[in-house]
Amino acid sequence: MARMFTEDELVIASHNDGKLREITALFSGRPFLVTSARTYDLPEPEETEDSFLGNAALKARATAAATGKPALADDSGLVVPALNGAPGIYSARWAGPDKDFILAMQKVESSLAATGGTDRRAHFICALVLCWPDGHEEGFEGRIDGQLVWPPRGDRGFGYDPIFVAEGHDITFGEMEPQTKLAMGHRARAFAGLVDACFA
Ligand code: IMP
Repeated sequence: MARMFTEDELVIASHNDGKLREITALFSGRPFLVTSARTYDLPEPEETEDSFLGNAALKARATAAATGKPALADDSGLVVPALNGAPGIYSARWAGPDKDFILAMQKVESSLAATGGTDRRAHFICALVLCWPDGHEEGFEGRIDGQLVWPPRGDRGFGYDPIFVAEGHDITFGEMEPQTKLAMGHRARAFAGLVDACFA
């Protein structure tokens, strides 16, 4: 049985504007305050684990310990089977210190071209970990499958959204209404598990 969230504040353990926007929207209307690692001016911990869930747990733990409040972390990324799963847990790092996602998307495209470029399947994974200050943790994962397109299309969303077309769709996440992406994406799927278990 998962632990229920009953506190009056939840700290989102992220500095990523795109994630903060989407997670805050997913919690809208809930009877608690949603703050973030930015609110507390926390440093970004180094992601040293080798899985999405491991890195999410590391970030949630650090934030819960620093603030004394329950913290929710999201570790996510783009997984490309033809690139043996890259960029995967290194999705943010492929954008370099300047967080240049045009560069990161170009890197994905040129790596795919070097493989012959016929298998353009990809999926996004989102791992969410909720950690309490006493160390108790609950973790959830969501996934959405699709295809990569080139050139990038659309200036909505963030990260790799302009090159990702979800199965059953013909526009990229970068072209999609934010609410539509929010309702169907990997983050929403992980979030559904979290809400069922800890916020129902
Ligand atoms: P991290 O979880 O902080 O390691 O960063 C994950 C990276 O994956 C982000 O910086 C984005 O580049 C990428 N990513 C995660 N979720 C999404 C999404 O919903 N759309 C596009 N890119 C994403």
